Amino acid sequence: MGQQMTYRTGDGYQAWLGYRRLAPGERYHQYTAYNRIQAAEDHVVIRTAVSELSRGLEGILGVSPEVTAQGGQGIVLATFRQYPDADRLFGADTIVRLGPEGYAIRTDKENSRIAVGGASESGVLYGTFHLLRILSMGLSVEDLDLTENPVNQLRMINQWDNMDGSVERGYAGQSIFFKNNRITEETDRIRDYARMLASSGVNAIAINNVNVHKVESRLITEFLPDVAKLAAIFRAYAIKLFLSVNYASPIEIGGLSTADPLDPEVRQWWIKTTAGVYSAIPDFGGYLVKADSENRPGPFTYGRDHADGSNMLAEALEPFNGIVIWRCFVYNCKQDWRDRKTDRARAAYDHFKPLDGRFKDNVILQIKNGPMDFQVREPVSPLLGAMPSTNQVLEFQIAQEYTGQQRHVFYLIPQWKEILEFETYTKGLGSTIKRIACGDLHGSKLSGIAAVSNIGDDSNWTGHLLAQANLYGYGRLIWNPDLSSEEIADEWIRLTFGDQENVRTIIKMILLSSPAIYESYTAPLGVGFMVTPHTHYGPDVDGYEYSKWGTYHYADRNGVGVDRTQSSGTGYTAQYNGANRERYESLQDCPDELLLFFHHVPYTHVLHSGKTVIQHIYDTHFDGAEKAEQLLVTWESLAGSMDEGLYTQVAERLAEQAEHAKEWRDRINTYFYRKSGIADQLNRLIYA
Ligand code: GCU
Repeated sequence: MGQQMTYRTGDGYQAWLGYRRLAPGERYHQYTAYNRIQAAEDHVVIRTAVSELSRGLEGILGVSPEVTAQGGQGIVLATFRQYPDADRLFGADTIVRLGPEGYAIRTDKENSRIAVGGASESGVLYGTFHLLRILSMGLSVEDLDLTENPVNQLRMINQWDNMDGSVERGYAGQSIFFKNNRITEETDRIRDYARMLASSGVNAIAINNVNVHKVESRLITEFLPDVAKLAAIFRAYAIKLFLSVNYASPIEIGGLSTADPLDPEVRQWWIKTTAGVYSAIPDFGGYLVKADSENRPGPFTYGRDHADGSNMLAEALEPFNGIVIWRCFVYNCKQDWRDRKTDRARAAYDHFKPLDGRFKDNVILQIKNGPMDFQVREPVSPLLGAMPSTNQVLEFQIAQEYTGQQRHVFYLIPQWKEILEFETYTKGLGSTIKRIACGDLHGSKLSGIAAVSNIGDDSNWTGHLLAQANLYGYGRLIWNPDLSSEEIADEWIRLTFGDQENVRTIIKMILLSSPAIYESYTAPLGVGFMVTPHTHYGPDVDGYEYSKWGTYHYADRNGVGVDRTQSSGTGYTAQYNGANRERYESLQDCPDELLLFFHHVPYTHVLHSGKTVIQHIYDTHFDGAEKAEQLLVTWESLAGSMDEGLYTQVAERLAEQAEHAKEWRDRINTYFYRKSGIADQLNRLIYA
């Protein structure tokens, strides 16, 4: 029995692909006129498009469409030049505007036809999912005339799944890919995941954790036949499969005594092994590598640098058009807290910037959005855009490691948008992160965005149902970074819960207010890392203060924050360009929300808001916990407006969040009251 069958409606398993039945009425009749699919190409991705469209139409109309290669009315799915009359419908102008993954959709009302055309099969699939979105949202199809090209070339998901079935920083159950150190045979769920990803525009996936241990090292050798089966599932959805590899593989699984990138035997080992991968998976994407980072092996052991290390792998992948995605999350994770000179925030830039221009064409550096580690609030990484002669991808984290672990609601799209809109001044005004990520600013050959997934084998995929909006929104946003957070939220809500006005308004309000609420009751003013060590869940203000991880806040009885200025601190601000450098360096101009990231200030320092730092801490924490409680009350107004299963699971999470927010509030407030001895101006309850 297919795994799909074991899930009930109401558990969230169908996610945004639930295809609610339309009641007979105007739209129903309009759609019925097109309930016939015309497709003739014998290609796996076109077959997928046909079956997805059939499934969607059947769900919405309750009647399965006829599928035919003949002309006539209905929906035509085709790459250009398959159907001359469909091409004529689009016109040559449209066709030339479409890139390799682009598509056009046009209605020919007279002949009761809708044509979905793409330059490639993947374009047709994306166009099909777009049409399905339109149908699911109950919009008119009478006058469709649209063209779309993805803005970003690589639109990638990174799974942090281990072969023992665990997921690093996973908050939604176990891996859907691995179990008991093997690749699972329960592939229905993997196929359903591929559908979800393709429907939002994702085109690449690395299926295993960047921390590659002994058993996962063998994915590129003995497990290849099983990896090939997964690659086939994703191929049908136009998604390329990548693997994270262990830099020390030549030693761990190759029997060599070294992994030195300049050693001929090592190079030979990678060439041979990579050829083996491609004979099993001819369209394999390439390798994702975490090297010399958090105790993972890398070229430093041999006195080599990251260019030597990545170029060696690139050489092995080059004959097959494969790529190396090399992560820049490299820093000293054995720092002495007494050492005030070393600054983890500086590390990626200091390591990589000097290597600009030394990487082969098929190497891409993957750079986390911030210089530290996916905190609720940190500045944008200054390494993004700082290497004009090097391919780069931006890395986000959909998994809510530091943003409430899918127990608290945190809609991530606004944060990502802020990052994408950030002005770097790298090449003067207009050098935004979104132009760097899409390769446009520096004319990069390879570029795009990757993100750590937030799914597991929980029946609703993401633990918190509202966290599905982050997975969906990620795909939609990187397809088109100009979509607004509101638009994406609205789409997701309509596809997931239906069209009811109150449901749309209230869920949108919850999503859009969620990031500010979470930020307000957790670590203040950009300071970060006031979390329980290791789990990273819940408050522990000094949890990392005397650790080796380089994540300190330096709170004492007078003040708090990290001095990263050039004039008196670690000099990190110098990694920014122009106005950014000046703004962050200056105590007066530094934005409030990042103040403690860049400066150490007394508790009595007055913010732009007019409040002192200490009063800001108290106010935001009282306010945040209250608003978290309010989220639950707001949600409760939806009782009876949706499937009970969906309603209840969210209500439970929001209740937990409200309680946990109080714990955050009290721990943070007490900590700073005890340190500073300064009372709350409003005399609220702080546990002294
Ligand atoms: C964070 C996270 C780790 C992860 C690392 C990475 O530090 O806590 O679990 O391995 O990021 O991105 O490599």
